[in-house]
Amino acid sequence: MFGLGSKNIGIDLGTANTLVYMEGKGIVLREPSVVAKNTQTGEVISVGSEAKEMIGRTPGTIRAIRPMKDGVIADYDTTAAMLKYFMEKTVGNSKPAVMICVPSGVTEVEKRAVIDAARVAGAREAYVIEEPFAAAIGAGLPVMDPTGSMVVDIGGGTTDVATISLGGIVSSRSTRQAGDKFNSSISSYIHQKFNLLIGERTAEDIKIQIGSASVEKAKEIESMNIRGRDLITGLPKSVDVNAVDVAEAIQEVVQDIIVAIKETLEETSPEIAADVIDHGIVLTGGGALLKNLSEVISEATKVPVFIAQDPLDCVAIGTGESLKNIEVMRRAHK
Ligand SMILES: Nc1ncnc2c1ncn2[C@@H]1O[C@H](COP(=O)(O)OP(=O)(O)OP(=O)(O)O)[C@@H](O)[C@H]1O
Ligand SMILES: [Mg+2]
Repeated sequence: MFGLGSKNIGIDLGTANTLVYMEGKGIVLREPSVVAKNTQTGEVISVGSEAKEMIGRTPGTIRAIRPMKDGVIADYDTTAAMLKYFMEKTVGNSKPAVMICVPSGVTEVEKRAVIDAARVAGAREAYVIEEPFAAAIGAGLPVMDPTGSMVVDIGGGTTDVATISLGGIVSSRSTRQAGDKFNSSISSYIHQKFNLLIGERTAEDIKIQIGSASVEKAKEIESMNIRGRDLITGLPKSVDVNAVDVAEAIQEVVQDIIVAIKETLEETSPEIAADVIDHGIVLTGGGALLKNLSEVISEATKVPVFIAQDPLDCVAIGTGESLKNIEVMRRAHK
């Protein structure tokens, strides 16, 4: 039989993190989507957590690269090298069938690039699944039932909003307003207010520690001491950052996500809208963990909002669960 003896895998190839789900085992790898390379030889020096530690700290000869941007492949060779490393780490030399996610609404070319990269990395065959659909499966939503569900997956590169019913996406939106935008809004705010340059990692730390989707609720959060480089003196400097200011800095991104949710709701049939009111909206992806986000979305849409259990794992679980349908996909691709 095809593939006997090797386990098939599902991959959540994300802008921020890559996860691998192995049939019968569950999630076997969680690593940042980062590759450190020698700038002269192009040789891969490290991949994943070790490479992420290097971001912003590399000498001229090494570059830490995030090969995925806005949910799609920005650097093809580096993405393939990264996938190869993660696949070798989890399945060794076997050539598994792979189910891999792409954001909703990507082009055929972008889809093809993901499939090719998986093949180059060692997949015997590769199929794609839309990220919000995988997220909904991973969050335990009844995607196959004749009832409408809504999922909002807030990752590093994209926020994918979708309503799902009877095994398919009914309406969806994908916007680049997600985790990375929260970080860059925080960096520009710090730059403007304190004339201080901070790294990507520091901006992310600020978001995770004191970031709040609600300006009002941010008043209850303590300020945070951070360090960066003073743009005027050129010297290191530390300042206290206020949570209310951070909440204001990221408001635009929060509001854009809410607009995407409202637009997706407006496009659905009254029946599905009614189902969503009954069952609520489910948030997945790392961005779902932003403080007070579920409350703010709920207030704006007048619909109950829940955070999925283990939001960072939902897409990977969904790709893994979909491996069961690989026979059907094989036939469809013949
Ligand atoms: N506690 C937290 N609060 C706010 N944001 C968080 C938190 N924990 C993680 N994040 C953010 O979640 C994002 C990563 O989420 P996730 O792993 O779901 O993204 P991804 O799947 O790699 O990206 P994409 O789906 O867009 O390609 C990062 O931007 C990270 O900073
Ligand atoms: Mg994702």
